[in-house]
Amino acid sequence: MNSNPPQADPANQFAPDDLYGFPHYMLKEIHEQPQAVQTCLARYFPKSSAAVTPPILTNLNEVHILACGTSYHAGLIAQYWIEQLVGLPVRIRSGSEFQAAPLPMTANTLTVGITQSGETADTLNAIALDKQRRLAQAAAFQPRLLGITNQSASSLSKLVDSTLPTLAGAEIGVAATKTFVNQLIVCFYLTLELALGCQAILPEKIQAYWTELSRLPAKIRAVLALETQIKNIAQELVNQQHCIVLGRGVNRAIALEGALKLKETTYLHAEGYSAGEFMHGPIALLDAHVPVIAIAPTDSTHTAMVANLRQVKSHDSPMIGILTDDAPPETAALFDHALMLPAIAHPLFPILSVIPLQLLAYHIAVQRGLNVDKPRNITKTLSE
Ligand code: AGP
Repeated sequence: MNSNPPQADPANQFAPDDLYGFPHYMLKEIHEQPQAVQTCLARYFPKSSAAVTPPILTNLNEVHILACGTSYHAGLIAQYWIEQLVGLPVRIRSGSEFQAAPLPMTANTLTVGITQSGETADTLNAIALDKQRRLAQAAAFQPRLLGITNQSASSLSKLVDSTLPTLAGAEIGVAATKTFVNQLIVCFYLTLELALGCQAILPEKIQAYWTELSRLPAKIRAVLALETQIKNIAQELVNQQHCIVLGRGVNRAIALEGALKLKETTYLHAEGYSAGEFMHGPIALLDAHVPVIAIAPTDSTHTAMVANLRQVKSHDSPMIGILTDDAPPETAALFDHALMLPAIAHPLFPILSVIPLQLLAYHIAVQRGLNVDKPRNITKTLSE
């Protein structure tokens, strides 16, 4: 963990202003993901590791996460990983809600701020508020603040005790893509550090995750190779008004993130749901004009997901599946279009499953003639 002053960002290998032949920064940045992930893996998962857990991460009762937008979605995935793989309770709150509804001030708590820019006012204000109220308390309640950011020299780094840089290189497109994927790599690193600290995962299991992580750049390239198929799907969706994205378990957050990418770049009305919750009312929205995108890997959620999707199909919605290449043929047959992604240890699937949604958002936006790098009404950083 880097608790020293920020150093030059070794991922600044991509000249930020050069499009390298891509028509837009968003597409360039989506395609930079294999390299960005590789850089991040080299930093956080070196071939040999001393495996010493930093003091800030030891003897914890809870983890609190504060973030906004896409970074909040990375926080939701971190919450899943830390709760399910480490067994530590995690609470997450949007930075914009923290003042109105602060999290309980629990003892021995790590507060993690996630912000790509390191300058988002809502997130910074929430962390500052948490720090201020904890400083007046007894030792067990003292702040332990960790920042995850793509800007090592940002206001976030000045506020927290320790910073984990995401090393994605400069991101110019307003829609966060490669910075999100690298946030996930860093959050998984944090998860394994916490697991080591409380011996929650067997060393063989950690080794197996390391092997899976080392294969990620190649698997991301395999997902990017689906772009022509995704562009064709975009052509079918370009005139739709609405779109639903469904996920379960760790992929619920990717349903939310996919819907956010679609909203902010295409202006389509897109909503992300937990597939189970979708049955409790929102399914009434469906008809032949409301396409459904389902993230349905072949994991422990598969059977329940397929049961939900059979109900969805009975309402005539066009169906697009984000599946793994080990999916049973009867699952693939549910969809008008099935995108087959490489299989991976199931907690890590979000790192792959978000990419088709980024590409779909990009291609719909471009086919609609929109300014995909600078969507209306939003800026890269909400610093006020
Ligand atoms: C991402 O595509 C959005 N532009 C937006 O939700 C963003 O993630 C949010 O404003 C938080 O930004 P940050 O990560 O820089 O804090």
